[in-house]
Amino acid sequence: MAEQVFIFDTTLRDGEQSPGCSMNLQEKLEMARQLERLGVDILEAGFPIASAGDFEAVEAISSEIRRPVIAALARANQLDIDRAWQALKGAERPRIHTFLATSDIHLKYKLRKTREEILKLLAWAVGYAKSFCADVEFSPEDAGRTDRSYLLECCHAAVEAGATVLNLPDTVGYCLESEYEQMFADVRSKVPGMDQVVLSTHTHDDLGMAVANTLAGLRGGARQVECTINGIGERAGNAALEEVVMAVLVRRDVLPLQTQIRTEELYPSSQLLSRLTGVAVQRNKAIVGRNAFAHEAGIHQDGILKNAITYEIMQPEKVGMPSNHIVLGKHSGRHALAKRYEELGYPLTKPELDRVYQSFTQVADRKKQVYDEDLIAIVNEGTEQTPETFTLKLFESVSSSEGRSTATVELARDGQLIRDSATGEGPCDAAFRAIDRITGIPGAVADLSLHTVGEGAEGVAEASIRARFEGREFTGRWRSQNVVESAARAYLQAANRAAYELQRSAEATAASAKPAHSNVLVDRMLPGGY
Ligand code: KIV
Ligand code: ZN
Repeated sequence: MAEQVFIFDTTLRDGEQSPGCSMNLQEKLEMARQLERLGVDILEAGFPIASAGDFEAVEAISSEIRRPVIAALARANQLDIDRAWQALKGAERPRIHTFLATSDIHLKYKLRKTREEILKLLAWAVGYAKSFCADVEFSPEDAGRTDRSYLLECCHAAVEAGATVLNLPDTVGYCLESEYEQMFADVRSKVPGMDQVVLSTHTHDDLGMAVANTLAGLRGGARQVECTINGIGERAGNAALEEVVMAVLVRRDVLPLQTQIRTEELYPSSQLLSRLTGVAVQRNKAIVGRNAFAHEAGIHQDGILKNAITYEIMQPEKVGMPSNHIVLGKHSGRHALAKRYEELGYPLTKPELDRVYQSFTQVADRKKQVYDEDLIAIVNEGTEQTPETFTLKLFESVSSSEGRSTATVELARDGQLIRDSATGEGPCDAAFRAIDRITGIPGAVADLSLHTVGEGAEGVAEASIRARFEGREFTGRWRSQNVVESAARAYLQAANRAAYELQRSAEATAASAKPAHSNVLVDRMLPGGY
């Protein structure tokens, strides 16, 4: 019988803290629901001391998401652990995840503490976390570069203090596979009491080895894997959940292990994250990239037609990837549409089907062939959780190779129509400036990516944008046949999110100004490296 590997998803913590991947509360909740559907065993919901937003997200996820264990991160100090517990206490199965760096580099330059001090501190922190919660995970940060015999001492101290999970992070993505595997083998065989403790991997992709190292950790005895959807995370990212899960499944002949992940939910999870963060998945990304199952070379196509096993080591359907086949057109009925959505992992209720069918008929009128990608775009339309302060009613743009471009935009706010025009360096810039003039919250675009979705001339343009409004970054994403309109609507979506969040923050500040409810929170830039 294959042993179980627990999947610890940290998309909403290590993933979300990386630049360009931030999400608001509603977006985090939407992602958490999808992670529950996917079947993750542990969901790390955030780092409550880091910001009010992180705290709220952990609290909300703890009260709504019931199946997985909900974890919250805390440094090894009282304030962090108290805050983590406050956020977690409504969870069905809470876990406090506390961490402290153990490598000499971190001790000397970051923490300025001796090895003895660190040992005492970590034992105290695990014990303190344990006073709230039976399930406590400890991570010796930068374990990969920690002196081995000192690491063993730290692990021993954490286990004695009551840690139920020991996570050995390769924080800076430095380890080679053999080194990472050996670290697990050493801890497992040399630290007393390890039979009661789950060992966990946590790898970063700085040298492109996060997934390979995760598998090495499993060979060394780890039975929990920390990973993120699409591999998002600090710097080069964390181990990609979908890659680890499929490697374990496809190569069970050499790794007698299994996970509880519903693999058909991998592609929908990847797409949802991409939609929420505005960060597109690279085309050649393993498992969930658009080209992951595309066969271009004639020889390959021939082989695939004869028998898919020639060039496919797993079926696209197994990861929930829609096939690129044309499935529906303007004569397709509701029944066929509902069936196809079900196959794509979107079982629709009657009202949802009604909404989707309306958009489908409009797209089918415009295009001869409606692809799975179009269907996914349609079903995700209008699922925006943030209330729209401004709605786009009209958009016109004039661009020229000579000189500046002009855009005119009409937005509705509270039933009132406001029209304005602006010029810019190009048509998109002009549209953004016109929107700024109406919303009154000027944004600075940090990243704009435009690509086509669908085949040939029938493809639509998808714009993903990250823009800063009043010092905070917001994302937007839109698909339309008109490239500039896609960019303008994506920008407006980001501006609407900004307007909503700024309004909420203003209300929260006004509320906390009342002394009885004052709520002191540490800013996201925390001392000590986090
Ligand atoms: O990379 C790392 O070391 C971490 C820890 C907080 C687990 O993310
Ligand atoms: Zn990390």
